[in-house]
Amino acid sequence: MAALSTPVHLTAHAVANPGAGTVPVWSPYGRAPQELHRKLPEYAPSRLLSAPALAEKAGVRRVLLKEETSRFGLPSFKLLGASWACYRALTEHLGTEPGPWADIDELAGLLAGLRPFTFAAATDGNHGRAVAHMARLLGFASRIFVPEGTAQARVDALASEGAGVEVVAGSYDDAVARSAQEAGPSCLVISDTSWPGYEQVPRWVIEGYSTMFWEIADRLDDLASPLAAGDVVVVPVGVGALAAAAVNHFRRGADGPSVVGVEPVDANCVMASVEAGRMVSVPGPHHSIMAGLNCATPSQVAWPLLATGLSTLVAVTDDDARRAVRELAALGLAVGETGAAALAGLEALHGQGRGPGAGASVLLLCTEGVTDPVGWRSILGLEVL
Ligand SMILES: Cc1ncc(COP(=O)(O)O)c(C=O)c1O
Repeated sequence: MAALSTPVHLTAHAVANPGAGTVPVWSPYGRAPQELHRKLPEYAPSRLLSAPALAEKAGVRRVLLKEETSRFGLPSFKLLGASWACYRALTEHLGTEPGPWADIDELAGLLAGLRPFTFAAATDGNHGRAVAHMARLLGFASRIFVPEGTAQARVDALASEGAGVEVVAGSYDDAVARSAQEAGPSCLVISDTSWPGYEQVPRWVIEGYSTMFWEIADRLDDLASPLAAGDVVVVPVGVGALAAAAVNHFRRGADGPSVVGVEPVDANCVMASVEAGRMVSVPGPHHSIMAGLNCATPSQVAWPLLATGLSTLVAVTDDDARRAVRELAALGLAVGETGAAALAGLEALHGQGRGPGAGASVLLLCTEGVTDPVGWRSILGLEVL
């Protein structure tokens, strides 16, 4: 894949996707990931909130926030994808589905014969923590690779899951390449991004995220107020797996909401790719405070869905993210920098006169709680004494 040297815009900007059109169909998996999630400890649908103050500011009918600040006791949505991918990868490894099992202890018992067994992953923090958590629940080990510069609190959180953490010189993509070397007879690599020859696991990660969208759809159906054409779903984009899941859910028919992706200004690999009409890399290292979005290359399996299913890409600055963190905190929501990117993206679009119409419902995926407390408090002007 070509590396593109895109001019770095220092301010927020948006690009309409010229390739938007018919989304490729994936083989159906229905609600199977959600059935798995229901059997994991502490499963509960995350909250869907309405924020009238944000709607008024953005000039739209309704702003909905999907609050992914706590999932299964972890501060992001990532276990939704990691758990389904780990489970499916283990099933493939065994050649058969383990079972039947009703809860995680029963599943761990069925898999005990595999030990010692390891999951490996690269991460900016959240995906790796989810993989390490899954390993711990199953009585396995985990080896997690992080790029240099990862906040200490995020490294500590990985270690608290029992992970062996290795800091890799270079960027997130360097950490991904390092993690791939771990694959072996008793080690499964559970990556949320894909590359040539490694596609199935990241596909399962995308499938696992579907639970978030079923929860939203079910809640809005209960309220007889589903999202429809003219409405907008705003998604933070790193390698694009979450956005691909959003596209897969919402862009099946002509009457769905449009899906907008938000990236940091200097890690805008999906924006650069839609502009180029093919997957390109935006070389790092990337230093955005939206750490989960510091990715140089889209996920190969996500790309066909992103290329056709995203209507617009928005690039935002760290200052935009800080402002969004403060606005969410003022509403009583402790959302981290990456999680606040969706609000930053909506406000950037509105500021440029390109926001959704006055009748629109806008769904913001607030994907992360506070994963770097020192950074988060300093954004709010607080110091720990
Ligand atoms: C909190 C959070 N939000 C959004 C994303 C973006 O997800 P993806 O890399 O699938 O685009 C990440 C990725 O790590 C993340 O940690």
